[in-house]
Amino acid sequence: MTAVDFSGVALDKARRVADAAGARVEWVQADLTAYAPAPASADLVRSSTSTCPRRSARAMLAGAATALAPGGTLLVIGHDLLNLTEGVGGPREPRVLTTPEAVAARAAGLVIERAERVRRPVEGSDLDAVDTLVRASRPIT
Ligand SMILES: C[S@@+](CC[C@H](N)C(=O)[O-])C[C@H]1O[C@@H](n2cnc3c(N)ncnc32)[C@H](O)[C@@H]1O
Repeated sequence: MTAVDFSGVALDKARRVADAAGARVEWVQADLTAYAPAPASADLVRSSTSTCPRRSARAMLAGAATALAPGGTLLVIGHDLLNLTEGVGGPREPRVLTTPEAVAARAAGLVIERAERVRRPVEGSDLDAVDTLVRASRPIT
């Protein structure tokens, strides 16, 4: 497993969790808008870096799609735009929020299996958070 984040703080936190679970991970500190993964190298790519401007999100999704092997799955989860009005927590800046439609539209060459909003319970709140969830796969050609 390879984990990529440009934040050393985020990587340290993830490393502690992974170590406690006994997971073997290659840690990479890099900006995903410029990161070039090995093409067709991954069976699963999970992207949860939606807290960035749309142009960056497009570049990151293109990289994630490149990394997928034929038959591989891409799972994108991010703070949804609807969270501003119907949800709780998360960033309040619309330009860093997303929608299932926007993610699906950027997933060129992939088959969209799910593109929807999901509600996530938040401890201590009566309201749920609203997330975008997209599952897509690279066709086996
Ligand atoms: C909502 S947190 C998700 C944290 C963790 N990946 C997870 O799934 O629980 C978003 C993460 O995306 C990272 N991020 C945002 N833009 C990035 C970029 N351009 N390159 C690398 N990491 C980025 C942030 O540093 C942050 O740790």
